[in-house]
Amino acid sequence: MLAQMLHQRGIDSVVLEARSRVHVESRIRAGLLEQGSVDTMTESGVADRLHREALVHHGLDLRFRGQDHRVDLSGLTGGKAVTIYGQQEAVKDMIAIRLAAGLPLNFDVDDVAIHDIATTRPRITWRQDGAERVLDCDVIAGCDGFHGICRPAIPAADLRIFDRIYPFAWLGILARAKPISDELIYARHADGFALATMRSATISRLYLQCAPDEDLATWSDDRIWGALRRRLGDTLEQGPILQRGVTAMRSFVAEPMRHGRLFLAGDAAHIVPPTGAKGMNLAIADVRVLVRALEQFFARQGEALMNSYSATCLDRVWKVQRFSWWMTQLLHRYDDGDAFEDRIRLAELDYLIGSTAALTTLAENYVGLPYAG
Ligand code: DHB
Repeated sequence: MLAQMLHQRGIDSVVLEARSRVHVESRIRAGLLEQGSVDTMTESGVADRLHREALVHHGLDLRFRGQDHRVDLSGLTGGKAVTIYGQQEAVKDMIAIRLAAGLPLNFDVDDVAIHDIATTRPRITWRQDGAERVLDCDVIAGCDGFHGICRPAIPAADLRIFDRIYPFAWLGILARAKPISDELIYARHADGFALATMRSATISRLYLQCAPDEDLATWSDDRIWGALRRRLGDTLEQGPILQRGVTAMRSFVAEPMRHGRLFLAGDAAHIVPPTGAKGMNLAIADVRVLVRALEQFFARQGEALMNSYSATCLDRVWKVQRFSWWMTQLLHRYDDGDAFEDRIRLAELDYLIGSTAALTTLAENYVGLPYAG
C-alpha cells in the first residue's frame, strides 16, 4: 500500500518480502475495512476488484443475554459503512498491480538486515537467489509486522514498550457455509465470546474464544461446530472447514514509531486484539501519514512531517488501542472469578443498547475515526 501510494507521487521504493508470493496471498487474516481504508485504497487505484466483490455492511448485531441488538452503524455515523474484503484479497490485488507496473517487489528474500538507521544514508542488506544484495536508501519503512527485524533494530533504550496479553485467544475457521446473517454478529455468551463474519454469500468466517494455549488438535470439526452453535444459535449452517487457526490476543505499542531514518508502520509498531477489526485499518492510517511526510521530504520542503510522524500516528494508535481493548474486555468471558466486574460488563452492554450517545461512540469508532489533517 505504501509502495503504491509513493509510486503515485513519483517516489521510488523497493519492497522486500521474506515469504513467498503464494504464502502471503493465501495467509488468511481479518477482512473488515473502515470507510477511510476503502477510500484510501480507492484513491490509490487498488480497489477495482474490491468494489466489484466486497460486501458493504451498514450495521452489526450485538448478542448477549440470548438476544440480538442491531447497531445501525450508518444511521449513527451520517452514512458511513464498513466493508468485508479479505486482507489476502487486498494483498493479491496490490501485488498484481505492482508487478504489472514492473516495479520492484522481491519475494523470498533471506537474511534481511538494516544498517546505519540513525544516519542519512541507511542501508539494507539481504540474500536473494544465493547472491548478497545491498540497497542504499534515503528512508527505510519498517512494515514488516510484529515479528519483523525493523523494530528490534532500534536501540532498546530508545523505545518504550506498552504490552498487555489477554488470558484468552480466538479459534477461527473459514467454512463453506452460508453466513448465519447478512451482518456480523458479536456474541457474548456464558461459554465465551463468538463472532460470526463472512467472506461471501457462501463462505463463513467464524471465531470463538478459547484458551491462549489452545491445542487445535483437540478440536474436531464436531466440537468446533457444537461450540459455535451453542454461542451463536442452532440456525448456524455447517459446512466443510477450509482453514483453521488460533489467534493470540495482545495489545502492544512501541513508542516512538521512528528512529532516525527508520519509520515503523502497522504491526511492526503496534498490535491490537482482533475484536474491533482494527489491525489492517491502523496500518493503512500509518501509511497515509508516512506518505505525506515522505512527499514533503522528497519535494525538499523539509522534515517537519517526518518529525511529527510518530506523534501523529500514536494519537490514533492509542485511541484505537482503547477501542479494541474496550470491545475485547466487554465481550469476553474472564475466568478470574470476579463476579463484580462481570456484572459491570453486562450493565455496560445493557446501557449501550439503550443509549444513542453510547451507541454513537461505538459506531464512530467501529467505522473508523477521522484521519489527522
Ligand atoms: C473479522 C475479523 C474481526 O476481528 C472482526 O472484529 C470483524 C470481522 C473478519 O475476519 O471478517
